[in-house]
Amino acid sequence: MWGASTSAHQVEGGTDNNWSEWEKKNAERLAREAHSKWDPGQREKFPEMLKAENYISGKACDHYNLYEKDFEIAKELGHNAHRFSVEWSRIEPEQGTFDEEQIEHYRKVIRSLREKGIEPFVCLWHWTNPVWLEKEGGIASELFVPYFSRYVDKVSQALGNEARFWVTLNEPTSMLAAGYVKGSWPPQKRNPFAALSIYKILSDAHKEAYGILHKNCENIKVGFADMLWYLEPANKNSILDKLVVKIADYFTNGKFLKMTEGFNDFLTAQYYFYRKFSFPGIAKNSFEDITDMGWDIHAEGIYHIITHLKKYNLPIYVTENGLADSEDKKRTKFIKDHLFCIHKAISEGADVRGYFYWSLLDNFEWDKGFWPRFGLVEVDFETQERRIRPSALEYKKTCESNELEIEE
Ligand code: BGC
Repeated sequence: MWGASTSAHQVEGGTDNNWSEWEKKNAERLAREAHSKWDPGQREKFPEMLKAENYISGKACDHYNLYEKDFEIAKELGHNAHRFSVEWSRIEPEQGTFDEEQIEHYRKVIRSLREKGIEPFVCLWHWTNPVWLEKEGGIASELFVPYFSRYVDKVSQALGNEARFWVTLNEPTSMLAAGYVKGSWPPQKRNPFAALSIYKILSDAHKEAYGILHKNCENIKVGFADMLWYLEPANKNSILDKLVVKIADYFTNGKFLKMTEGFNDFLTAQYYFYRKFSFPGIAKNSFEDITDMGWDIHAEGIYHIITHLKKYNLPIYVTENGLADSEDKKRTKFIKDHLFCIHKAISEGADVRGYFYWSLLDNFEWDKGFWPRFGLVEVDFETQERRIRPSALEYKKTCESNELEIEE
């Protein structure tokens, strides 16, 4: 399968959830902090990062209204699969009250994809909570599991048989780390003990959802979207460096997967980050090749993380992999290099069945706002015009031929 991913809050526009509330309260602060957070070069290239409105998701890409047009573009780009998320706060705006019109909206979204020969991968939670749930403690609350289960039950009874692939949660570990350890995302806590209990809450939520989806639907496959980091010791001969890698690897890559073992029909890899560790912490990476956001580009890492998943003997989908590159200078090589490394893992026995580039559209990049441009398709957020980037046409060749052209 070849395609791209999006998430509701980042593209739909008009969402009313814990993130949209947080944005209103934090936009001014984020704009102020951008002066010291980013390099002068980045500030010059993306002056919008210094303005509060950059940090308000607002209309985003208006994908809620323009999805038909966007899926036409995906089709034109040769995609045969697409991952998107259902926005819980639309489906259950008040606790226990479900909005049938919104369920109908997502039925149309799924059908629109299928009509175009695009396989939908439906994600049920991509980090946003309805406001009422956040008030009750969000993912840190024991109530998250029964509330999530009720929502999954409702959605899967209504839509379960419309799609074959279901993703329960997006990157549980990213959300718990940024929201409860680093304290940079809502609800901005710094409480590692809460984070530990959230592993349990979210893994229970996934396992319950797995059961509910299978009870309500036939012939479906269920998994969760997993952020996997490629971690290495700075000094391969140092026992201490290797020890820090082991610990970091356990919390970022291993723990959640272990806690959900037996409750996944497929595994996923979402790969963005490569880090070297030197006891007792993170070493300075080489930063030879970076994205607009300053993230290291290290394609080989995807080979290692996929190879590591082989032992579970399950189909693997790369449900996200991409970069912020406003000028589209690096995207083609980025995609090709990562696909090359994925192919190497496949040729050594990894059962990789799909690749979803992040993202189909430029979108709202959480606490960074609109300036990081991840899209295969450029979006003018004022006019909502779409413009296909050259890299999208290169990727199209692979999507259509199932082959990767490389230069010798
Ligand atoms: C998330 C996306 C995000 C992307 C780029 C992934 O971790 O699932 O929502 O936009 O990374 O940061």
